Amino acid sequence: MIISVIGQGYVGLPIALSAATSGFEVKGIDNDQNKVANLNSGVTSIEDVDLQVISEMISSGKYFATTNYSIIEKSAIVLICVPTPLDLDHKPDLSYLIAAATSAGRHLSRGSLVILESTVAPGTTRNIIVKILEQESGLESSDFLVAYSPERIDPSSKKWNVKNTPKLVAGLDNKATKQAVDFYSKFIDNVVVCESIEVAETAKLLENSFRLINISFINELSIFCSKLGISVNEVINAASTKPYGFMPFYPSIGVGGHCIPVDPLYLANKASEIGAPTRFIDLADQINQEMPGYFAGRAEEKIGGLKGKKVLVIGVSYKPNVADVRETPVKSLIVELVGRGAQVSWHDDLVKEWNGEKSVALSNEYDLAILATPHDYLDLTKLGDVPILNTRGSI
Ligand SMILES: NC(=O)c1ccc[n+]([C@@H]2O[C@H](COP(=O)([O-])OP(=O)(O)OC[C@H]3O[C@@H](n4cnc5c(N)ncnc54)[C@H](O)[C@@H]3O)[C@@H](O)[C@H]2O)c1
Repeated sequence: MIISVIGQGYVGLPIALSAATSGFEVKGIDNDQNKVANLNSGVTSIEDVDLQVISEMISSGKYFATTNYSIIEKSAIVLICVPTPLDLDHKPDLSYLIAAATSAGRHLSRGSLVILESTVAPGTTRNIIVKILEQESGLESSDFLVAYSPERIDPSSKKWNVKNTPKLVAGLDNKATKQAVDFYSKFIDNVVVCESIEVAETAKLLENSFRLINISFINELSIFCSKLGISVNEVINAASTKPYGFMPFYPSIGVGGHCIPVDPLYLANKASEIGAPTRFIDLADQINQEMPGYFAGRAEEKIGGLKGKKVLVIGVSYKPNVADVRETPVKSLIVELVGRGAQVSWHDDLVKEWNGEKSVALSNEYDLAILATPHDYLDLTKLGDVPILNTRGSI
């Protein structure tokens, strides 16, 4: 059975390789020619992917990357795993998804199953994707199958992977649900069927909105604790001894990555469209966006102004121990610091190069260091007596 996976990024590549390892013949379709060439020589920059697995799957003929959509004609199952970001107005940008569905539709065969994995607002699969597939293929929706199954990948997690993370699935009808469940069950331990596609779409948005709201709340509380002169981390540790009804979240300069700052706005946008606004999400988004400015202010206070001061920002990826800088709040922190007159350099040996700049060494040549993203490898003793502003809960 041939499986096509459109989009060979953080979501599509691990799923494609898991399916290939379980015996399916997988074609990884991506419109980035360099990425495709690299994958076919066994190379990817996605940290969680084992390069040996790519090479093994390629040499056994179980995996091949391509820019050519025509392989979809022979595919029993087509997965769509393309980005669903925000546009410049902070609104859902479905352009990648529409382009991928259009290309899939043009090559879709009767009886094939299309599964959308990208994060979307409820109603998108049924009202947008199915219509594009019908239009482009010339088939009726009853001639093919459609399901939705959100991805829950946790980059760099040692505990949770494709196999042991429960997977939500919902089909447009029972046949689509059954085929999608049969497919995922070959390489995922626990496949959970949702009552409808809209339930699965909304569940994904709930998961990520829950994180955005709680992280923003703890960040607001950390501002409160700092003003009070107590440690927010001690407060969280104390509260965490409650054996029920509490879940710890920890302070930072804000959420980042491709999901947490983005997905809740898909929910908020849909909510205002249907006249049921989600005010918590709007507020959490606002607090999240204010955190870098807050820390630039703290930096200013700590060394009595930033004009002409040499500031080193440590860790620029969106979370510790990954090289992913998508939606990193550190970008806004640097903009805020520069806006207040600081000369900013940054250190991050995982990211190495970013925005046309290179990571500098940790040294004692600075007026201030700001610990933005605390990677495990960092040795802060190299800073000597440079004052450090710790964004992870310092008073
Ligand atoms: N990264 C995560 O941790 C994560 C977790 C859960 C869900 N998601 C969701 O999964 C989806 C994909 O995210 P990602 O992180 O894998 O994105 P990504 O940017 O890592 O990968 C997407 C890939 O799709 C390719 N692409 C874009 N348009 C295409 C097209 N028309 N045809 C073929 N290829 C195309 C890009 O070149 C890229 O390689 C998004 O909806 C995201 O919200 C991401």
